[in-house]
Amino acid sequence: MQVIHTIAELRQALARHDHPAFVPTMGNLHDGHLALVRHARTLGDVTVASIFVNRLQFLPHEDFDTYPRTLQADCDKLAALGCDIVFAPAEEELYPQPQTFKVQPPPALADMLEGHFRPGFFTGVCTVVMKLFQCVFANARGERHAVFGKKDYQQLMVIRHMVQQFALPITIHGLDTARAPDGLALSSRNGYLSAAERAQAPQLVQTLRTVAADVLGGEHNLAALEQRAMQTLAAQGWQPDYITVRRRHDLLPPEPRDIRPGELVVLGAARLGRTRLIDNWEF
Ligand code: PAJ
Repeated sequence: MQVIHTIAELRQALARHDHPAFVPTMGNLHDGHLALVRHARTLGDVTVASIFVNRLQFLPHEDFDTYPRTLQADCDKLAALGCDIVFAPAEEELYPQPQTFKVQPPPALADMLEGHFRPGFFTGVCTVVMKLFQCVFANARGERHAVFGKKDYQQLMVIRHMVQQFALPITIHGLDTARAPDGLALSSRNGYLSAAERAQAPQLVQTLRTVAADVLGGEHNLAALEQRAMQTLAAQGWQPDYITVRRRHDLLPPEPRDIRPGELVVLGAARLGRTRLIDNWEF
């Protein structure tokens, strides 16, 4: 496995490959990330993972400085999986000047849910993903694949729309969320939880599953369900940002005719102590 730090070397290493499969990450890899890489290996003739903690998608008060950076351990895991190339640029390599050209997703997709609570988040994500796509795919001659997780459901939806609107010749793959045995979605931020918080953390997905079961059981007053779910979490000591039932494809609130199995997803974000967790459940 090659560990590459510059765009020029990356392009050189990729020159003899026709169809790369790419997994962008911010590192501190867990089994959810590794499942994406394992899937990517089945798609292309070379598997590339990037590790880059992208300052553009963090607000000033967020955890950019403390975000776990574990490059050596990450590379060991990727090498064991058969990943071919790790692209781990320094900040000065990807952003040699302040990144003033940006990819701004439409407010209808990016100002709700995560974007409402983290203004500018999806501009930061789209800008770095577009730039990473240029680094990885610019010289590819065949199919190009990129793999994302449904754990970040809105991110996947925004990226799909970006690729479609810019006519990027890239196939986006969305993979199911990898979970711990107790249901907690794997996340680099789980490492911030104390032992007691970690034990409590599955309450988020349990709450989402309860909402899903209630809707499937015939309760169609979504506003009431969502409010009850937020109250349940708050009573357990969480500070919920949102719990909301949406249509899968555009994450808009469902019309009555959309309320049927296979169409919906319930998304949630809540803080437990100082850790903000997100999760979702399709139903
Ligand atoms: P990061 O949080 O490192 O996640 C990288 C990829 O792993 C994303 O596609 C994310 O959805 C996926 N992922 C995370 N946890 C997962 C889980 N439990 N199961 C399945 N997939 C999971 O998302 C980002 O980085 C950044 O925003 C990035 C796209 C790299 C742009 O900076």
